[in-house]
Amino acid sequence: MIMKKCVVFSLANLKGGVGKTSIAVNLAGSLLSDNKTILLVDNDPNGNLSSQFGLEISEESFTVEDVYVSKTTPGVFDMAAEVRPNLWVLASSQGLSSVVSYLSSKPNRETRLKNFLDKVLNDFDFIFIDNPPSLNVLTFNSLVASHRVIIPTQLEDFSVEGVKKISETIQEIKKHFNPRLKIQGVLPNMVNDRRRISKSAREKLASFHVPVFKTSIRSSVKVPESAEMYKLVIEHAKSTPVYEDISNFKDELLSSL
Ligand SMILES: Nc1ncnc2c1ncn2[C@@H]1O[C@H](COP(=O)(O)OP(=O)(O)OP(=O)(O)O)[C@@H](O)[C@H]1O
Ligand SMILES: [Mg+2]
Repeated sequence: MIMKKCVVFSLANLKGGVGKTSIAVNLAGSLLSDNKTILLVDNDPNGNLSSQFGLEISEESFTVEDVYVSKTTPGVFDMAAEVRPNLWVLASSQGLSSVVSYLSSKPNRETRLKNFLDKVLNDFDFIFIDNPPSLNVLTFNSLVASHRVIIPTQLEDFSVEGVKKISETIQEIKKHFNPRLKIQGVLPNMVNDRRRISKSAREKLASFHVPVFKTSIRSSVKVPESAEMYKLVIEHAKSTPVYEDISNFKDELLSSL
């Protein structure tokens, strides 16, 4: 068996609609062309990531909810769906929202996802955990289970403030729960005009002392359009500027590890 050296990433931002799900999905798509084996974990009760692959969840389906509530689970390849060759999705379920209150009185509530993922590190090159836009026990589990965090954000002053909040949270989790956790970088997404990236937003980001990726992802209708067609951007719009950005981001990320 070939042993893989897996890196686990959280996509996190307490602000909604910044591109956490889109980046997780399309970064994974781009890494497939580098022959990587990837697990996407849909850790958001809204299940947007699962929907983007058209996954239908029935009563019998295994989902990430089982990771939080079941004493024992089957192996990851029996729980996740292979949505493309070498791309696996551990789906979300509607019941995931009730896990938040269920876990509040349970022991080891912060480490359940970590305990599960630590056992499958030899099976994947990368694991990306998509999160809800809030700090609850699910996001907490994601940050405890991860090595690195990618923080997608828009570059308006208002959105940039959200980066401060999540980076403070990450520092706390690093201190008390997960010393290996590191912010890999802030990823500017839905950028309209590269030359006019808000200078004050950039300066604000710099003042938070968090790394910012050199690559930013342009705004393009190809991103929602692909999702509506249950396709990855690499499948629907490979020769477009936004895919070029995604691919450049993938290269920058790989070289920064
Ligand atoms: N680069 C982009 N250009 C244009 N539209 C984009 C881009 N990235 C994401 N979007 C669109 O913006 C919307 C929000 O993106 P997405 O769902 O990925 O954000 P999110 O952070 O996961 O949101 P939530 O916090 O609600 O889970 C979606 O309709 C998505 O298709
Ligand atoms: Mg999302």
